[in-house]
Amino acid sequence: MRLPALTSLLFILIPSIAGAAQPDAEALARRLLNSQGCKACHLIEEAGASTGPNLEKVGGRLTREQLRLKLANPQKRHANGRIADFSHLPGNEIDALTLFLSNRK
Ligand code: HEC
Repeated sequence: MRLPALTSLLFILIPSIAGAAQPDAEALARRLLNSQGCKACHLIEEAGASTGPNLEKVGGRLTREQLRLKLANPQKRHANGRIADFSHLPGNEIDALTLFLSNRK
């Protein structure tokens, strides 16, 4: 009696664990777009300002590597040197933002 119950539990749990990484990274990226002030300068998901380029379709213009370099680069500069870059963020946060932006096409 216990084994079938356990098996069905696994069928429920495994797909939800496997699918969790993507929505989590997306939620993290959305939080960062707000908390890091990106929207003070950029339009994304229909919110923000237009000091910097519109990011709605940025994934179609820039490769993932180019996007990452906009956020964290050896010069530590963003916005043509007007502000510091985001290299101080942990790697998983840079990854989440890069992935999120590269999916905007
Ligand atoms: C103070 C205003 C400002 C803030 C805050 C800001 N940016 Fe920018 N950003 C700019 C400007 C201006 C440019 C254009 C100059 C350049 O390409 O470096 C730019 C360029 C970019 C580009 C390249 C876009 C393209 O089409 O070339 C990306 C991607 C980007 N920003 C993402 C972000 C993200 C993500 C954040 C928050 C973590 C952020 N920016 C915060 C002003 C800002």
